[in-house]
Amino acid sequence: MTTRNPTQLASDDDWWRSAAIYQVYVRSFADANGDGIGDLAGLRERLPYLRDLGVDALWLTPFYPSPMIDGGYDVADYRDVDPLFGTLTDFDNVIVDAHALGLRIIVDLVPNHTSSEHPWFQAARTAAPGSPERARYVFAEGRGVAGELPPNDWESVFGGPAWTQLADGQWYLHLFDPAQPDLNWRNPEVRAEFADVLRFWLDRGVDGFRIDVAHGLIKAEGLPDVGFGQLTGQRQVELLGKRRLPYFDQDEVHDIYRTWRPILDSYPGSRMAVAEAWAETPQRLARYIGPDELHQAFSFDFLDAHWSADSFRKVIDTALAESVIVGAPTTWVLSNHDKQRHVTRYGDGPEGLRRARAAALLMLALPGCAYLYQGEELGLPEVLDLPDDLRQDPQYLRTGQSRDGCRVPIPWNGELAPYGFGPAGSALSWLPAPATWRELSVRAQTGVSDSTLELYRTALRIRRTHPALSVSSARITWQETDPGILAFTRSAAGTALTCVVNISDEPAAVAEYGEPLVASTALTERDAGYLVPVDAAAWFERR
Ligand code: NOJ
Ligand code: CA
Repeated sequence: MTTRNPTQLASDDDWWRSAAIYQVYVRSFADANGDGIGDLAGLRERLPYLRDLGVDALWLTPFYPSPMIDGGYDVADYRDVDPLFGTLTDFDNVIVDAHALGLRIIVDLVPNHTSSEHPWFQAARTAAPGSPERARYVFAEGRGVAGELPPNDWESVFGGPAWTQLADGQWYLHLFDPAQPDLNWRNPEVRAEFADVLRFWLDRGVDGFRIDVAHGLIKAEGLPDVGFGQLTGQRQVELLGKRRLPYFDQDEVHDIYRTWRPILDSYPGSRMAVAEAWAETPQRLARYIGPDELHQAFSFDFLDAHWSADSFRKVIDTALAESVIVGAPTTWVLSNHDKQRHVTRYGDGPEGLRRARAAALLMLALPGCAYLYQGEELGLPEVLDLPDDLRQDPQYLRTGQSRDGCRVPIPWNGELAPYGFGPAGSALSWLPAPATWRELSVRAQTGVSDSTLELYRTALRIRRTHPALSVSSARITWQETDPGILAFTRSAAGTALTCVVNISDEPAAVAEYGEPLVASTALTERDAGYLVPVDAAAWFERR
């Protein structure tokens, strides 16, 4: 086996168990050539920023050749870089520099569907029904007298039917956009192809994969109807929905991951995979994880939890219990490129920001792996007023729900949009940043002690260095508190760290957990202790 890139990080089998992993939405991170679209060279220039932020690894969203109908989740070539984002050499440079800075790199793998521009689908289009070319995808005959109706009642996650008919009468399945035809994973040729794609990126030195729609690869035999849907007033599925369906979370999907794990394990270092799987219960989600399958699965329950102590506590307890059973770390996520940013979900404006900062301290104190979405360290809100004609999310056209507002390019510096997103003087960014982001730029927040950026830096530094937050301290102990207050302790090496989150209507008096290390809103001293303000969190240390 060749490892094209010799710059591997020192082997540490457990790195992913407690990592802080930063999601880079490449086209909105940093633009090196001034065309208004983020690229790999832009990311490379900004790697020192990410090292200084204090994260352990980066997850890069798709940068492969793509017509960009779904932001690159429509891949036309799995072994190259789209010219929009650079070249394979740019990618290699990112890996070398990232590893030199101690940052690992995870890439996004999209196995459920290709782009309709992929050579395989181009060949399938013109090939005859029943041909080997069509057998790589899910083609079927229609229903009705002349096959004029779709083969079954399945719906697209983006709205509307999941089937599109070709001129010769056959229909093809697309659980997302019609430009994203679903692959047929019962076909060994598809399996062999993706095993090879995994090796291609592992050979280039990647530390892992984020598996898109990991629960979708196998469809139930016979393509049975769901039995209800949009036409009868209830959509079958929405993005990150949990319902078990004939096209999602089929048991046979696990056979695929059991063939991937030996591939990952055959490489030096510790290469990992995280599933983006939507499952009905934490138990079914846990089935994707284990020594013979994947290393992690995103737990979206934390992201879905309301701003309430009860709801957080329930989600945390369930996830940690599950993690003990499967022997794999919990993953915590507050935001990603598919969901409204959490500042806005928690109420927007100053209240939303205060809560988002508190939620960050909550997440970063929990045992397991934390996934951060670019811009949350700046306290960016969702951009709610993007002009309709600039929105690019394919889901928007079909359902009116748009994910563009969380994908607005990062403000780096300067007085005017796009705030240093591109080289000096470039006025472009593919989505416009609002005027209010001037104060939220990286430069505006750097060195400002109460800024969100400095809060993240401080919390991430403590998380990396404090024994009580290390992988050896996998348990939390809940403290008895008033309703509306969350307080839990982690201990190791004679030290204890307690995270207190105040989700009640009154300041919370805290005296028993030692001295504060970091707070999301300034604490006030009272008697022999401290007051944690409403909608704030703090970490206390006792040695
Ligand atoms: C999940 C990705 O996160 C989302 O952005 C994409 O639209 C769908 N999978 C389809 O690939
Ligand atoms: Ca660019």
